[in-house]
Amino acid sequence: MSRILLVTSSPRGAESLSSRFATEIAEGLRVRLGGTLTVRDLATSPPPHITSAYIQGRILAPSARSPEQVEAVRIAQDLVDELQAADVLVLGSGMINFGPSSQLKAWFDHVIWPGVTFDYGDAGPRGLLTAKKVYLVTAAGGRFAEGTWAAFDFQTPYLLHLLGFIGLTDVEVVRVEGTVFGADAVKATLADTAAAIAALLAKAA
Ligand SMILES: Cc1cc2nc3c(=O)[nH]c(=O)nc-3n(C[C@H](O)[C@H](O)[C@H](O)COP(=O)(O)O)c2cc1C
Repeated sequence: MSRILLVTSSPRGAESLSSRFATEIAEGLRVRLGGTLTVRDLATSPPPHITSAYIQGRILAPSARSPEQVEAVRIAQDLVDELQAADVLVLGSGMINFGPSSQLKAWFDHVIWPGVTFDYGDAGPRGLLTAKKVYLVTAAGGRFAEGTWAAFDFQTPYLLHLLGFIGLTDVEVVRVEGTVFGADAVKATLADTAAAIAALLAKAA
């Protein structure tokens, strides 16, 4: 039995490949592992940008918070609770201007919380979320996995860094790339992605 959290974040709606394949993984895992599936679509229900009410509020005792700070911290707490409750996180991200969408960045701005999801030990920062498996699906029009454009991939390496920073280091990455290079390229990348997902699901069963 697994508690699976599916987080999608592409603003491209039904066209989104990261949402499509992340959903396939999450639903495939649920069938194989059993348990529950919680879906959070950050594009249709985006978290707000963080504000001083959140930054100040989260370091104050609950009784000292203003109503605005209480609400700002509640939003972050809800997102953190949802993440902490999951055994498996399936995260979909589509590249927007070389990085993740601002909706996904806003989610990380809420769940990366000192003293809650990471802290500082003698050896530096330490992630506090442990024992969770992560499946990260990143989609991009160009090809970034290797070659000249790899240096301009501020999506996959950045997301891996953020996940690792809060302790989520057991990550399987599925890249859906090169969709701007015509119909044959799209066909090939969709076939490669389907095969990669089938292999991941077979391994998870
Ligand atoms: C506003 C916008 C910006 C984009 N920026 C980039 C980019 O910087 N580099 C790139 O390779 N593709 C870019 N793309 C293409 C998307 O990364 C591609 O369509 C990908 O499949 C998006 O993920 P999704 O299918 O999950 O929505 C952009 C697309 C949109 C709509």
